[in-house]
Amino acid sequence: TAEPVDPVRVLTNRSSGKQGFAIAAALANLGAEVTLVAGPVAEPTPPGVRRVDVETAREMLAACEAALPADVAVCVAAVADWRPAEVAAGKTKKTQGAPPPEIRLVENPDILATLSRAAARPRLVVGFAAETETVEDHARAKLARKGCDWIVANDVSRPGVMGGSDNTVSIVTRDGVERWEEAPKAEVARRLAARIATTLGGETQ
Ligand code: CTP
Repeated sequence: TAEPVDPVRVLTNRSSGKQGFAIAAALANLGAEVTLVAGPVAEPTPPGVRRVDVETAREMLAACEAALPADVAVCVAAVADWRPAEVAAGKTKKTQGAPPPEIRLVENPDILATLSRAAARPRLVVGFAAETETVEDHARAKLARKGCDWIVANDVSRPGVMGGSDNTVSIVTRDGVERWEEAPKAEVARRLAARIATTLGGETQ
């Protein structure tokens, strides 16, 4: 997501959206009816997918809630954890001799945790964890904290993951951990979509 500071500035992150778009494409390929709620990224819309574009975390939450009921929610967006407490109405100007402005942040809603506790909770709620150390321990803690069913953990300390085309992930569930080999994001997406279909009792062919 991108969180406005003033009409010309935003706080955002380096996520490309590639993994999320690949998952939407893979699920649509298996015949799922997919709503892709996307932050401001440069990826093309996969065929057969309904895309809803948003900017901020709060808009993303509203769009996700509007997409319920659903059999599965896959929360792969890099949602900004915080947003500026105030958004300046006009562009903040640099004034000679004045100190730089201070930006006070407030916490954004947690979309994954909110969907996990929703009255219309999807049967399967999948979150992602971008970690740089003790990846699986953090993922297990996140699973419990957020109330989701799976965490797809990826080690973003590996060179080229953020914005790159390959990913090395572990699937952490209440029953244990599956480590998958490094693969292109499209292949990770196909395997994840197949696992989702199997779990929901659908056909994967
Ligand atoms: N997420 C979300 N809403 C937020 C922040 C994160 O839905 N406001 C989701 C992400 O889409 C992802 C998962 O939560 O599926 C993990 O996000 P992460 O930022 O790693 O979680 P945090 O709780 O912020 O943990 P940490 O600070 O340890 O990174």
